[in-house]
Amino acid sequence: MEGPLGQPLYNAIAALIRQQIATPPDVGIILGSGLGAVAEQVEGPVTIPYHTLPAWPCSTVAGHHGELVVGRWANHTVAVLNGRAHYYEGYSMGELAVPVRVLRTLGVTRLIVTNAAGGLEPGFRAGDLMLITDHINLAGMAGPSPLRGPNDAALGPRFPDMTRAYDPALQHLARSVAKAKKMRLREGVYVMLAGPAYETPAEIRFLRLIGADAVGMSTVPEVVAACHAGMAVLGISAISNVAHFAPSAEKVSHDEVLAAGAAIGPRMRDLIGGVLAQL
Ligand code: HPA
Repeated sequence: MEGPLGQPLYNAIAALIRQQIATPPDVGIILGSGLGAVAEQVEGPVTIPYHTLPAWPCSTVAGHHGELVVGRWANHTVAVLNGRAHYYEGYSMGELAVPVRVLRTLGVTRLIVTNAAGGLEPGFRAGDLMLITDHINLAGMAGPSPLRGPNDAALGPRFPDMTRAYDPALQHLARSVAKAKKMRLREGVYVMLAGPAYETPAEIRFLRLIGADAVGMSTVPEVVAACHAGMAVLGISAISNVAHFAPSAEKVSHDEVLAAGAAIGPRMRDLIGGVLAQL
């Protein structure tokens, strides 16, 4: 079943998942570094380890669990990717898109993507939540894309529109939920770098100049594949550290990113739960 990436493979993986669950999911949720607590909200969870699913990219990074959790949450059947793989782990962009394409095959039409990110906007603080209003695909805009290669027209168009990559209606909903819950929700543009080295001060200055508010090493491949497949995307970053370019700036470490993710997890869960309740 390990054949080439394409609909027959996605169908086969979707069939394996369907055998284990009662109801097909309508919402997908991808959890970033340290945000595993969000998955605890799922009721009657069926947990499927990634390694039991062919071609499913498994994360080797601390803070990523490596299991698909399907169950009920706020009147929806959700499929939560508890842990994700990254480009820097050696996967191709196409391999990183497999879970999104399988979710689409299962009937998911709305995708909530989360990540841990470094705050570039000077007003951002570690612990903030940021609604992603747009992205800059720095790791891929001049090179690798999950859409590279023959296009499967049944999956989506050759040249997908990206002007509304983050669904305006879902953004609106997230804002109103945050307001009702008196939760501060920052907003901004997420830039994806390939990583895994964190940015130099000169790179941080460059990222500010090109209009980025938060920086990370994930999310964009999944969002490109989701937009291609016509899914509505909501993106939320957990600002785990601030990425400033002053020579006195603090060093960044993965441990710090994970600790911040764990601290933000309950608020991220609350926000997602509020959005799901109104979908
Ligand atoms: N840079 C890149 N990726 C990240 C960061 C950062 O500062 N924090 C969390 N992911």
